[in-house]
Amino acid sequence: MKQLIEAPMSQLIYDFLHVTESAALASLPWVGTGNKFEADKAATGSMRNLLNKIQMEGVVVIGEGEIDEAPMLYIGERVGTGAGVKVDLAVDPIDGTSSTSKGQNDAITVIAAAPEGTLLHAPDMYMEKIATGPQAAGKIDIDSSIEENLYAVAKAKGKQLNELTVIVQDRERHYKWIEIIRSIGAKTFLFEDGDVIPAISTCIDSLNIDLFVGIGGAPEGVLAAVGVKSLGGDMQARLLPDGEAEYERCVNMGIKDPNKPLRHDELIATDNCVFVATGITSNILLQGIKFDHKKYITHSMVISGRDKNLRCTETVHVI
Ligand code: FBP
Repeated sequence: MKQLIEAPMSQLIYDFLHVTESAALASLPWVGTGNKFEADKAATGSMRNLLNKIQMEGVVVIGEGEIDEAPMLYIGERVGTGAGVKVDLAVDPIDGTSSTSKGQNDAITVIAAAPEGTLLHAPDMYMEKIATGPQAAGKIDIDSSIEENLYAVAKAKGKQLNELTVIVQDRERHYKWIEIIRSIGAKTFLFEDGDVIPAISTCIDSLNIDLFVGIGGAPEGVLAAVGVKSLGGDMQARLLPDGEAEYERCVNMGIKDPNKPLRHDELIATDNCVFVATGITSNILLQGIKFDHKKYITHSMVISGRDKNLRCTETVHVI
């Protein structure tokens, strides 16, 4: 990573909010149609168009894929007017493309931003992830077993093991962990799609979620790391390159040892960062888009790492 360069990210929050709201609305006609490619294309086109109107020198470091596989918002694409603060952007026009196309819960559109050189540049591959909220920050370790992490979180939060809840994506690759979590008395909260919000949910006391573990997309891992960092939590990860070609892709992006654990500061090196997400369909934190006689209503969350506050907003869009 390059030297940390300070830039006031919070000044861009409302521009980003406009972008995520518009991208979510652009995907709406495709919710429940079974066509995830058109949904993603609509959200991506809208997001790119509006990002290009923001006064900034932005570069997509987490995006829709590498230049040869994504026509829009590819890794390395320059966005913004070209004047203004230099910004690293992590974008996911839709986290939960399958949920969107099936008309199910848990689809969001999301942007995270930080000064140039402070966000991990990660390729699209699987990543192992662990996250917890502020009370247990500094106590988890991706190199420790799931049991050790649960004991550490219980101790830090002053809870019994049977008072802990771990949020995990319902995938076969996680069954072993789910079995261990339950065998020591802790509970699981299983979700189907979209692992950005679940990682961040560990930082919101009222949700009573103590730990997030799982293997999911690396881009979503970096996005979640910004949200978790902005709320004072802790997130760690490890890239899981599948074969030599993926290993090389990591190295080419500047990750010298792709098998090494990535601590929170390596995922996002500053708390001068922002995270903005809008619900397409509902999740544990956000309502999905609602329609009310000639109006659409969107629900979004905005987190600024500088003040560690989560703001939820509702916007009425008159058609
Ligand atoms: P997409 O919207 O790109 O399909 O990602 C959805 C998602 O659930 C991510 O949030 C998660 O990191 C990843 O897929 C998990 O991958 P898989 O669906 O292959 O288990």
